[in-house]
Amino acid sequence: MKQSWKNILAAGICGLSILAAGAQNAVNAQVKFDTTEAINRLVSQMTLEEKVNMLHASSSFTSGAVPRLGITEMVMSDGPHGVRPEHGRDWNLDNNIPDSSTYLPTGVCLAATWNPQLGYAFGNVLGSEAAYRGKNVILGPGINIIRTALNGRNFEYQSEDPYLISKMAVGYIKGVQDQGVSACVKHYAANNQEILRHTIDVHMSERALREIYLPGFKAAVQEANVNTLMSSYNKFRGQWASQNNYLLNQVLKKEWGFKGIVISDWDAVTSTTQPMWNGLDIEMGTDLHMLPNPNYSKFFMADTVVALVKSGKLPEYLVNEKVRRILYVMYRSNMIGGKKNAGSFNTKEHQQTAAKIAEEGMVLLKNENNFLPFNKSKIKSIAVIGFNAERKQSMGGGSSQIRAFYEITPLEGIKNIAGNKIKINYAPGYKIERGAKADEAMIAQAVAAAKKSDVVVFVGGWTHGFKYNVWTDNAYDAEDYDKPDMNMPFGQDELIKAVLKANPKTVVVLIGGGAIDMREWLAETPSVLQAWYPGMEGGNALAKILFGDVNPSGKLPMSFPKKLADEPAHALGQYPGDSTYVYYLEDIYVGYRYYDTYHVEPQFPFGHGLSYTSFDYSNLIISAKGKTADVSFTIKNTGKVAGADVAELYVKQSGATLPRPEKELKGFEKVFLQPGEQKTVTIHLNEDAFSYYNDIINEWVMEHGQFIIMLGSSSRSIKLTGNIQL
Ligand code: GLC
Repeated sequence: MKQSWKNILAAGICGLSILAAGAQNAVNAQVKFDTTEAINRLVSQMTLEEKVNMLHASSSFTSGAVPRLGITEMVMSDGPHGVRPEHGRDWNLDNNIPDSSTYLPTGVCLAATWNPQLGYAFGNVLGSEAAYRGKNVILGPGINIIRTALNGRNFEYQSEDPYLISKMAVGYIKGVQDQGVSACVKHYAANNQEILRHTIDVHMSERALREIYLPGFKAAVQEANVNTLMSSYNKFRGQWASQNNYLLNQVLKKEWGFKGIVISDWDAVTSTTQPMWNGLDIEMGTDLHMLPNPNYSKFFMADTVVALVKSGKLPEYLVNEKVRRILYVMYRSNMIGGKKNAGSFNTKEHQQTAAKIAEEGMVLLKNENNFLPFNKSKIKSIAVIGFNAERKQSMGGGSSQIRAFYEITPLEGIKNIAGNKIKINYAPGYKIERGAKADEAMIAQAVAAAKKSDVVVFVGGWTHGFKYNVWTDNAYDAEDYDKPDMNMPFGQDELIKAVLKANPKTVVVLIGGGAIDMREWLAETPSVLQAWYPGMEGGNALAKILFGDVNPSGKLPMSFPKKLADEPAHALGQYPGDSTYVYYLEDIYVGYRYYDTYHVEPQFPFGHGLSYTSFDYSNLIISAKGKTADVSFTIKNTGKVAGADVAELYVKQSGATLPRPEKELKGFEKVFLQPGEQKTVTIHLNEDAFSYYNDIINEWVMEHGQFIIMLGSSSRSIKLTGNIQL
């Protein structure tokens, strides 16, 4: 096609800027050249209607194209731990497509690895499979703070601690985006409960917002260069998050310099001028109100915007600014002017990554007298009890559902290792039915299995509850639901007690997204293992840990309280609010920040996780350098098997102008050691590690004074302490 002189000139400008970019070591490897000129040229060629068409959905999971100019639809897909089964363009889940994908462990399991390299590997798998399935945006990671154990979506999220979230989410996002797919960090912001999620108006201090609820998003923007971000359903300080001037324009775009796209949560938009002025870029999901005959020009940011601009009631530059952001992301993710990554799907490597994350993410909470690992040569029979041992979880949870390529259940994993040497006696023991009490006959069957076996593996806990594409009211860990309480559902407490009585050699394995009340049977149980939702290879990972082929190295990414009333959101804060407002009165005292400052004993502390070996810490040396410090120490594997510990660095400042928590995580390193091996590790603490947000003057401040540095293998097993004057 004959190139007009303009295009040739533009190409020349691009060429020059490529040279310029190359010469200055392009800041972001993903932006190959300065796209400003190309973007301005494209925008100037578009009609108003074409531009507005890009600001809203063109189907259930795509936003509008401009075919005339070679701009394709932006194709989006859930979810945070695998590419969701195909939806038709109008929401019907299409069951006839070979779209079974790699089912990775869910967010909390990834966070429990405390291994940022696995964050990157996780993102790589997700991005590669999204690329293969033709997606431009994968709607994850979900990183909302785990404020209460009742939140139905905790399983999809990561932690109660903003520093751990930042470290894990950055790797995940880079992993996705290095595959030429955009990540979408969500749900911005303060979406920490599912109950009332479409209506609740969240309030908290500026300090809690800045120190706890925003840092994960800030790291996603400033460290991972995330391409897109999803605004949440709820209101924040009186304005819907998808049209919140403070969160979107002031903090995200102005203060943090976010260059990407703000996408609304599905069906979250309720007006036109506010989202246009207040920073929303793409409206999704409003068609949910229009089914079965969706009309995409009737979205709030569609024909109405065209009319308002034409009548001079909305300035066109608002439209242009949004289109520029979308085009910028399209360039960065090779949707324009780049070669799309073919990606790969259901590969062995992807499955091995899923396995690795499950193996490193499971947390050994209790292991009295080294009850675990089992000795394969000594055990002749195992009773496996609990419906979660056979339950496939991948399609559960709501929008994060996955049609797994395969899913190894705990029972299958144990059978794979047992082979024909160890007899497996299985009994479901309970059934999934909301409000079901323990069934005497099922208990009797479980007790009989326990009695005739050498050891017992109980597999219970929470569950997703689901039918295909509709999550039933059995859901405990699922979108749109919060748990009614922290009690074991389906009569499991009674069942566990009966099984322990029949055979005390029982390990309890918990499937689920977070803490459950274990008080009725914990004392009698020699071992407890938290398995989360460990993905398609979860059963094999669990069995390898039970038999010692894998030495567990997971650490809790959230505190496990003894009982719900001990949680700060329930003790100090409000939950779920009074149907209109919810005030986070616990403020910055979330999780261990509360338990340690208010001297409340958790069941298992943040950062806790046992190993089959032991570690010794020594030689803590802290060297202050201006407003930063280097902390070095020696860690040694003093046991008989290889293993990994997470050295966790907590900082405390007493005597600051404003009160500060007893401790705050500001560094960590997962260290793998052979028996007898030792390593000297240095962790750098920058100025952020010592600063706090003074919301009287609305600034981050680092006050001079004494700081206590605590090094531990959990927030409550501090091994070495030192202090410095800064
Ligand atoms: C849902 C969820 C969001 C998901 C979106 C699309 O309501 O809140 O996480 O990505 O809609 O399914």
